[in-house]
Amino acid sequence: MAENLVIPRHVAIILDGNGRWAKKRGLPRTMGHKQGCVAVEKTVEDAARLGIEYLTVYGFSTENWKRPEDEVGALMQLFRYYMVRLLKIAKANNVRVRMIGDRRRFASDIIEGINRLEEETKENTGLTFVIAVNYGGRDEIRRAAIQFAKDVKAGLVEAEALTEDMFASYLDTAEIPDPDLLIRTSGELRLSNYMLWQMAYCEFYITDCYWPDFNKEELVKAIEAYNKRERRFGGVKK
Ligand code: IPE
Ligand code: IPE
Ligand code: MG
Repeated sequence: MAENLVIPRHVAIILDGNGRWAKKRGLPRTMGHKQGCVAVEKTVEDAARLGIEYLTVYGFSTENWKRPEDEVGALMQLFRYYMVRLLKIAKANNVRVRMIGDRRRFASDIIEGINRLEEETKENTGLTFVIAVNYGGRDEIRRAAIQFAKDVKAGLVEAEALTEDMFASYLDTAEIPDPDLLIRTSGELRLSNYMLWQMAYCEFYITDCYWPDFNKEELVKAIEAYNKRERRFGGVKK
């Protein structure tokens, strides 16, 4: 039962299978993405109620720009619409919203929407909902390295003084703890460039469920599986 479970502090999700969900029903892929947004909204509410502190959802990768132009366009439209709904949901559920990824590539109205979401929810004290958009783990590390190099050049820090914690503070996830549990839907067994640095000791849970079908029951199942894991972080069983 959910009441007796240890709730992971940070749950990360690779939402996958929107296209397959739609195909199975003879619908266009965009319908899968639309239904996927509904599942995201519900998961934000469920995660907040379960007492998860951080939920990080992979919404659009740096590689997803390679998709057909009409699909990318439809995703951008959906994102515009969804940001407005998300603001309401965040306010109603005391949720703080943050975006990771390089937002500079988006249209200016989308960037404004992202900034507004972060600004208007920053005082909320419940769940921190992190959306990864135009996000790639390698790109995030590359951007962090550029910033560090600039700081070295400006004389703000010595190159040799760089620690792991200091490097982590240059990442988009600065101040966000590493994920404890990664959920990937639709059965793929890969990271697809998600949070490469942060996942060093994360527990993985893969389900065949397509993302639009994901719900509270599935989330609890993942947390139950997490509760059976023996985490070691390189040490031995205590
Ligand atoms: C995940 O579903 C959504 C995004 C990556 C934007 P997909 O669109 O990858 O769905 P499949 O993998 O083709 O089924
Ligand atoms: C990963 O899903 C990216 C997101 C969920 C945003 P993809 O469907 O793009 O990943 P691959 O191509 O199957 O690895
Ligand atoms: Mg996919």
